[in-house]
Amino acid sequence: YPSPPREVWTSEEGSMARETAVTRWPKLVQSMVDDVDETLGLGESGCMEGCQIDEGRDIQRALRTLKEDIIQDQALRPLQSDGRPDIDGFNTKLASFGQTITWHNCPWLFAECHLYRFTFFSLSESPFWRAYDVFARQKLNAFVASHAAVEELCERYLSVANSDAFATTNTDHEAQQLLFLEMTEVALWGNATDLSLLSSTSLDQIHALQGTKAIQAGQARIVSNDMAAAWDHLRSCPKGRVDIVLDNAGFELFTDLVYALYLLGAGFASAIRLHVKSIPWFVSDVMPRDMDVLLSALTDPALFSGANNQSVRAVAALLNAAYQDGRLAIEEHPFWTTGLDFQEMPVCAPDLLETLRQSALVIFKGDLNYRKLVRDAKWPHTTLFRQAIGVLGEAGIRILALRTNKADVCVGLDEQTLERVEKEASKKAWVRNGRYAVVSFSDGR
Ligand code: F6P
Ligand code: MG
Repeated sequence: YPSPPREVWTSEEGSMARETAVTRWPKLVQSMVDDVDETLGLGESGCMEGCQIDEGRDIQRALRTLKEDIIQDQALRPLQSDGRPDIDGFNTKLASFGQTITWHNCPWLFAECHLYRFTFFSLSESPFWRAYDVFARQKLNAFVASHAAVEELCERYLSVANSDAFATTNTDHEAQQLLFLEMTEVALWGNATDLSLLSSTSLDQIHALQGTKAIQAGQARIVSNDMAAAWDHLRSCPKGRVDIVLDNAGFELFTDLVYALYLLGAGFASAIRLHVKSIPWFVSDVMPRDMDVLLSALTDPALFSGANNQSVRAVAALLNAAYQDGRLAIEEHPFWTTGLDFQEMPVCAPDLLETLRQSALVIFKGDLNYRKLVRDAKWPHTTLFRQAIGVLGEAGIRILALRTNKADVCVGLDEQTLERVEKEASKKAWVRNGRYAVVSFSDGR
């Protein structure tokens, strides 16, 4: 393979990487300290043991040190062992850069993974805090705030599920394709709201990003669109398992679950496997318990006002049934929370590669998964997706990436589209602000 360009570094003036390192990471780490504070405040009123409170204070100290390291542009520290094997991988990679890398002069992707792994390390010394998700509060609050979009989507899904085009016996391929496009867009734009970018987004803006109108208006903002190729693949391949490498909890997870129901119900998948993260990751990524939290919130009016809505109840029942009988299942793998990009999967996680090869379609959701597919490398935007995914392009995995653009890297555009978006959205806004997207497919051959 021709060697790819270098990955994006936080030292690059004007890059989103730099802005993230200088401005967003310190705020992010502070938000974790604040969250622990809130829990300690509740704990001090009696529901926590003294040693757990002390451990919480130690965690806050470790996080404050991390924040200071970032602000003062200190070197990334090697991680200490907490008994999990992935630590060696982080430290080997850190050493492989052959120079001291500091927070303002490091590969963005690796350093941000290192940040989340360090956070988990500082929690993991205590049995109480090891099971604690510093982002759980934010995830649940954001989901509760998205009730209007959840209700709207449930109503739409039920009317789609009762339509002629949905029936597995239907031979109107055009109508079926239209449904596929609509449902794929639901899952795509569900990624527009993730909590790591929310600090600058108002609730009104979130609502504007989530509704049906936003989805319709979104088509012109899909700057590279392989949906037709994905559709051709899906309708012609034997019905089998579909995998979704999930991104964010809350509203995005809900759109993914609706998409999964559609794929099962319309006869394009016999089972759906949802790949989740095992540790708190990039703020809002789905962990196993987020699935349970979401399913119970959907039927709990005390928590989620949408739970009173008939359509929400009906969709929740469909989801619960599929989850209980195993058509919908979640799966963890340590590879998803390493600092490695996905092109390292054949060497570093061959078992996972084999699992994904057996899938009819592997859907990668979101910005981070996309960056890991293309190595976060500074490809010219007109590079073919197939070229950017390197070894994965012929590893026998059928890949569909659904990603709203929230970072410096993006491939698959033709010259005309590139010219248009650069005029439409000033500077690099179209790669960064989450309002544009790509849908990229590779048949793996
Ligand atoms: O720093 C911004 C960021 O955290 C990126 O690192 C990451 O790619 C993105 O936000 C998370 O987005 P998503 O949840 O879509 O992967
Ligand atoms: Mg995410």
